[in-house]
Amino acid sequence: MNVLLIGSGGREHALAWALRKSPLLDRLYCAPGNGGIAALAECVALDPMDFAGVTDFVRAHDIGFVIVGPEAPLVAGLVDHLSAQGVKAFGPTAAAAKLEGSKGFTKDLCAANAIPTAAYARFSDAAAAKTYIRQQGAPIVIKADGLAAGKGVILAETLAEAEAAVDDILGGAFGAAGAELVVEEFLFGEEASFFVLVDGKTALPLATAQDHKRVGDGDMGPNTGGMGAYSPAPVMTDAMVAATMARIIEPTVAAMARAGMPFKGVLFAGLMITDKGPYLIEYNTRFGDPECQVLMARLQSDLLPALLAAADGALAGFRLDWSDQAAVTVVMAARGYPGDYGKGDVIGGLDAAGLVPGVQVFHAGTALKDGKLLSNGGRVLNITATGATITHAVSRAYSAVDKVEWPGGFCRRDIAWRALERERQSG
Ligand code: AMP
Ligand code: GLY
Repeated sequence: MNVLLIGSGGREHALAWALRKSPLLDRLYCAPGNGGIAALAECVALDPMDFAGVTDFVRAHDIGFVIVGPEAPLVAGLVDHLSAQGVKAFGPTAAAAKLEGSKGFTKDLCAANAIPTAAYARFSDAAAAKTYIRQQGAPIVIKADGLAAGKGVILAETLAEAEAAVDDILGGAFGAAGAELVVEEFLFGEEASFFVLVDGKTALPLATAQDHKRVGDGDMGPNTGGMGAYSPAPVMTDAMVAATMARIIEPTVAAMARAGMPFKGVLFAGLMITDKGPYLIEYNTRFGDPECQVLMARLQSDLLPALLAAADGALAGFRLDWSDQAAVTVVMAARGYPGDYGKGDVIGGLDAAGLVPGVQVFHAGTALKDGKLLSNGGRVLNITATGATITHAVSRAYSAVDKVEWPGGFCRRDIAWRALERERQSG
């Protein structure tokens, strides 16, 4: 089967790497891809938001399955468009992708189905939002309703910050994504990323993972798309996974089906593990980036039939095998990220990095030009390693990081610190 993968990040490089191992795969195309994906797939200069262009390509290249990585084309309806043309695709419809595309939609779904989440209210009027904020007190969380590339969430320590956030969001700082906002209770606990494959009715849990959202060591500094991840996440014990499935995932999948918008694809629950158990912070309707990289490093089953089963409504009874090894990924980003950063630095040393045992170098934002590999984004490389323990995987990942020749890049040096502490304590 010929497959078209949509996206250009480290997530898509990891998916391409996993798909390449499938005996079911004939040709793999990636739109638009990146400098690393080019070694595994034929990269095509197609804009994923140009639905007609994607459909024409699919027809011309006898594509049997389209796998959509990022959220923007999902929320905009790429899967609906492909399905209407008779093309099989992996990912939710636009209606089901509202679980990521509208925070208010998800909060209302939680409220209607008694799914544990932070107490909240929705507003499009600034004065009303501020009155509510003053009643609730700080700290408090303000979120633009729509997609804001991870920047639409303000964790306000003071009432003044909260009120300024309301003015920013409703004043147009996030465009249409900020026509409405959600104000919610500040939750305390440890965060985890939880992924399930869903076929409309059945949800199959994937391995557990945790990422690091803040740019700096010690989880300090501004939020990013994610600076590193590891799997498994020790906080997600079997009991916590069972509670998450029963209280959060199953009721969501059932509610979406009842509402006539069955969810198919990857449902990614951002969780806060509180002293009262798992709370939903938010849903994403795609694989996490960089969590996908550590999941693919541990997946032992063939990925392609699993994604096909999700698209076909055939996940009941499906099983996935995961390596007992731990996996870690360290994001190397361009200096300045998540603010302004440069592009076009020459990067070397990746062959040596890739020779460290257990290491895979995934590219997140690179381009090939005249035989040279250039930085081409904020998050640029995902140095991924497996090992017998998290400690072992971390040490392999950083020894590979140290072989990368890129003075304009930086990374966090403390990826997986919580898991490392746990491993130290348990000897
Ligand atoms: P989100 O984009 O909704 O995942 O939010 C980004 C980050 O903000 C999350 O990963 C959390 O670290 C934090 N966050 C979001 N909502 C809350 C909340 N209600 N309480 C505490 N932290 C939150
Ligand atoms: N790493 C978090 C995300 O993909 O949104």
